[in-house]
Amino acid sequence: MPEADISVLLKEKRIFKPSQKLVSESNVKKWMDKQGIRSYEELMKKSQDTEWFWGEAAKEFVEWYSPPKKVLDWKLPYSNWFVGAKYNIVHDAVDRHAKRHPDKVAYYFEGEPGDRRKMTYKELSDEVCRLANALKKLGLKRGDRVSIYLPMILELPVAMLACAKIGVAHSVVFSGFSSLALADRINDCGARVLITCDTFWRRGKTVALKAAADEAARQAPSIEHVVVVKRTGENIPWTNGRDLSYQDITANESTACETEKMEANDLLYILYTSGTTGKPKGVMQRHGGYAVNIALTLSWVFDLKDNDIWWGAADAGWVTGHSYIVYAPLILGTTSIIYEGAPDWPEADRWWDIIENYKVTVFYTSPTAIRMFMKLGTEWVKKHDLSSLRLLGSVGEPINPEAWIWYQLNIGGGRCQIMDTWWQTETGAFAIAPLPISELKPGSAVRPLPGMAADIYTDEGKRAPAETGGNLVLLSPWPAMLGGLYKNPEKYQETYWAKYPGVYLTGDIGRIDADGYYWVQGRADDVLKVSGHRLSNSELESSLVSHMSVSEAAVIGKPHELKGESIVAFVILKKGIEVSEPLRKELREHVGKEIGKIAMPDEVWFVADLPKTRSGKIMRRVIRKKVIGEPVGDISTLMNPEAVAELDKAK
Ligand code: WT7
Repeated sequence: MPEADISVLLKEKRIFKPSQKLVSESNVKKWMDKQGIRSYEELMKKSQDTEWFWGEAAKEFVEWYSPPKKVLDWKLPYSNWFVGAKYNIVHDAVDRHAKRHPDKVAYYFEGEPGDRRKMTYKELSDEVCRLANALKKLGLKRGDRVSIYLPMILELPVAMLACAKIGVAHSVVFSGFSSLALADRINDCGARVLITCDTFWRRGKTVALKAAADEAARQAPSIEHVVVVKRTGENIPWTNGRDLSYQDITANESTACETEKMEANDLLYILYTSGTTGKPKGVMQRHGGYAVNIALTLSWVFDLKDNDIWWGAADAGWVTGHSYIVYAPLILGTTSIIYEGAPDWPEADRWWDIIENYKVTVFYTSPTAIRMFMKLGTEWVKKHDLSSLRLLGSVGEPINPEAWIWYQLNIGGGRCQIMDTWWQTETGAFAIAPLPISELKPGSAVRPLPGMAADIYTDEGKRAPAETGGNLVLLSPWPAMLGGLYKNPEKYQETYWAKYPGVYLTGDIGRIDADGYYWVQGRADDVLKVSGHRLSNSELESSLVSHMSVSEAAVIGKPHELKGESIVAFVILKKGIEVSEPLRKELREHVGKEIGKIAMPDEVWFVADLPKTRSGKIMRRVIRKKVIGEPVGDISTLMNPEAVAELDKAK
C-alpha cells in the first residue's frame, strides 16, 4: 500500500451509517421482518443454517419447473444444490418477465459513437428465441458448448441466454483477449460454434474482432460455424459455408422457442480465469444454485426495486458481467444499462453523462476506474447532475480509503453508501459485502453475507486472531460455488481444497478487525490484479519465453497508482541476442498479441540472471521486494544469491 493511502486509512476513522430510510425500506430488512429476525446479528446467526437459509431464499427468487427434493448434497469438495429440481435460469431471467411485464425495458444500450437502442423484456425474449431456434438448426443440442467473443452490445446477453435456453453451455471470452487466447479456450471446451461480430467501437476507432475470430477458428478444429453479428457494417473477411450472418439466420425464425427443462445442477457456463499456472482454468457454473445466489445478493446488497436503473459498468466477458449484468438483474426484472465503449471517450465525462441521461440509480464499478476519474479531476463530474444515484458499488480489487471517500463525496454526493463487494469468478456471487443495514468503514468489504461462512486462517490452519493477517477461507458451501474446473478435477482439488482439509482457499490474504470487519489485502499466490483483471504471472512468463529471443522470464506486479498493479517483466535473452529498444517493444507487443492488450508488460528489463531456489524455481517474491525497494530478507538458501544484486544492473 503506498504511504499516502496508509495515512488516509489511519486518519479515516469515520463510520458511515445508513440512513433510517435506507434501512427501513431495504429488501433485506423486509425479509427479516417477514421471518421475525430483529437484528443483523440474529440474521447472521440464523443464516448459518445454510440449508434452511438457501431453501428460504429459493422460494423468494426462483420458480422451478418441478421443486427440489433436497436443498444441498455436499460431497466434499463438490456441492449439488436444489437436487432433483427441474429448472432453467432463462425461465426466471426472460420467459416470466416477457409474460408479466412485456413492455418493461430490460436494457438501454448506448454505443460508443452515441447510437442508442432499448430492448424490452418482450423484445429480449423474441430475440433470444430467434437465435435459439437458429442455433438448433445448426445442430446444437443440450450438452454442447458454444464460444462467444463479443463486445458490450445487446447481442452478447442475447447469445448467452439463447445458449442457456436450449441447454448449451456458453463460454464467453473477453473481446480484449487475443486470437490465441480465444483459440486456447475454444479448444479446451470443444465449442462447435463461435459467435462474434464484424468490428466494434473503442476510442473512436473500430476493433477488428472478426479477423481475430478467424485466426482463432483456424486453430480450433471443433468450430463448425462462425456466427457474425453486424455491429458496424464494416467490410470483413468471409468464409463461405462456415460463416453465417447473425442477422440473416435469425431474421425469419420464430419468436417462440421452448425453454429446455434442465436439472438444477446441469452446466450453465464455463468461464476461463487465470490461476497460478500458465493454463487458464474453466470455472463451471450451473443453473439452479447460481440463480438463487446471484438474485439474492443483488437484491439484498444493491437493494434493487422495480423502478431502479442499474448500471454495472463492467464487461460481460468477466464474471461481474455474467452474474450482475446478465443473469441477476434479469432474474430480478431490472432495467439495466449496457455501454459499448471507453469510459473517457470522447471526453472524461462520458460515464457521468450516461448516469445523468438515463437517471441511473445504482452504479457499480471498479477501484481502478474510480482512481482514474479521481486523477481526471472533479470538474468533469460537476458538469453533470448525478442526483438520481442512491447507492454505489465497487469490485475487483481492494479499494483504498482515499478512493472510497472520493467516490462517496464526488459521485455519491455524500449521500450514497458504498457497497464494496468481495467475490471471485469461483464464488459466482458476492461473498463478503455490506448490506444496506450495515455501517461502513471505508476500505472494508464489511462482513460475509448471510448464508456465507468465512474466516482468516494462519498457515497452520488455525483461526488468526483479530487484526492478524492470514489466508481468507470459506468454511461452508454456497449455492453459486463453482461446480469444479472443466475437465480438470485434479486442479480443482489442488487449487482450492489442498491447503486446509474441507475448507475452501480463496487465494487472498486479509485480516478481520476487532469489530469483525474484513479487510482483504490482495492475492497470496502468483496472480496479478491489473485494473481488477486477473492475470497469471506464469501465463505471462510462458508467453515471453515463447518468443524466439527469450530464454527465461520472471513477471511480477508492482503497485500502481491507477491500475492497482503494473506488470514488470525481467527477461534473460538467448545467447547471441543483443539488448535493444526495438526488441523491448517487440516483447511487449508479443505478449499483447498472445494474451491481449491488458497483459502487455509496462516494463521489460533485460538481465543476465534471475534469483532461483535450489530446485530451479524463479523467486518472484525476492524480485518483487527488490523492485518495490523492500528488504529482500534471507537469500542464503537461493541457488544463486548473487543474482539478486545482478537485478540492479538490469537494462
Ligand atoms: C479476485 C477475484 C469478482 C469479480 C471481479 C474479479 C479480488 C475482487 C474484491 C474486493 C478486494 C477483491 C480478489 C479476488 N477482489 N473483489 N471487493 N476487495 N479484493 O473476479 O477475476 O475472479 O478475481 O479479485 O483478489 O480473489 P476475479
